[in-house]
Amino acid sequence: MSDKLPGIRHIIATSSGKGGVGKSTVSINVALGLVQKGFKVGLADVDIYGPSIPTLLGIEDEHPQVLDQILLPIQKHDLKIMSMGFLVGADTPAILRGPMITKFIQQFVTGVKWGELDYLILDLPPGTGDAQLSLSQSIPLTGALVVTTPHAISVKVAMRGLRMFEKVNVPILGVVENMQGWATPEGPSPFHGGHKLSETAGVPFLGSIPMDQTVAISGDEGEPVMIKYPDAPSAQAFRGVVSNLLDQVNHTASANPLGSFKWNLNTGEGAPRTRED
Ligand SMILES: Nc1ncnc2c1ncn2[C@@H]1O[C@H](COP(=O)(O)OP(=O)(O)O)[C@@H](O)[C@H]1O
Ligand SMILES: [Mg+2]
Repeated sequence: MSDKLPGIRHIIATSSGKGGVGKSTVSINVALGLVQKGFKVGLADVDIYGPSIPTLLGIEDEHPQVLDQILLPIQKHDLKIMSMGFLVGADTPAILRGPMITKFIQQFVTGVKWGELDYLILDLPPGTGDAQLSLSQSIPLTGALVVTTPHAISVKVAMRGLRMFEKVNVPILGVVENMQGWATPEGPSPFHGGHKLSETAGVPFLGSIPMDQTVAISGDEGEPVMIKYPDAPSAQAFRGVVSNLLDQVNHTASANPLGSFKWNLNTGEGAPRTRED
């Protein structure tokens, strides 16, 4: 038996300026949309401050196995999943700082037996601080997906996130506007922050996900909307986002043929140097 492990074609980070905008929900449902299109997909939850993927996928009680010092991902809905939530205790983030966080997260991602993947979705910690910045430099990303709600406050911090990725030359694959459509007494939501953000920054708009009870309920139950309610408006919207994302990935990949896809996360071959090396 060969232990030669093939690599990962595309790593896509989902990011948001602040927490609670649905970054993990988008990560999961986009990952599942890619699975439904026939791709091999992994999901890495590196949101060290609030790893919520295990809850949203109903796998909190799982304990990943370790084989030859490599973590074996949990499999659910044909997704390979690994979460910081399985490893860190409540006070771990507090004892790790700056460069340690980056190193910790990088080792975490490289220490998982992902096998051959078309896509690895990386659910980043929210924010635009040093940890996010150096992480974006130390993991070879195909690009970033920026999640915002339609509201001005979320858009403002999301813009900071866009700037951060631009600074380190990570292509922005697009903006996903989540929780669209809170009705007001005057009628439908007047907020279209995701559109505005993509126009102002000159980056693609991948789609709006409506505020949808089925998303919230299925999240609480650990059964993502793409699986439990595939016909819900939000699930349809997620499929639209996935199609647009694939267009952008193809576009970005052909624009950067020698881009960042050479790092084999399984063997470590071709890994870039980190700041503290
Ligand atoms: N489009 C939506 N409609 C309704 N509820 C949503 C939607 N997107 C996310 N939620 C809910 O909002 C909460 C926060 O989402 P989550 O993905 O954990 O946010 P983040 O990862 O940005 O902190 C969860 O309870 C989730 O089920
Ligand atoms: Mg989250």
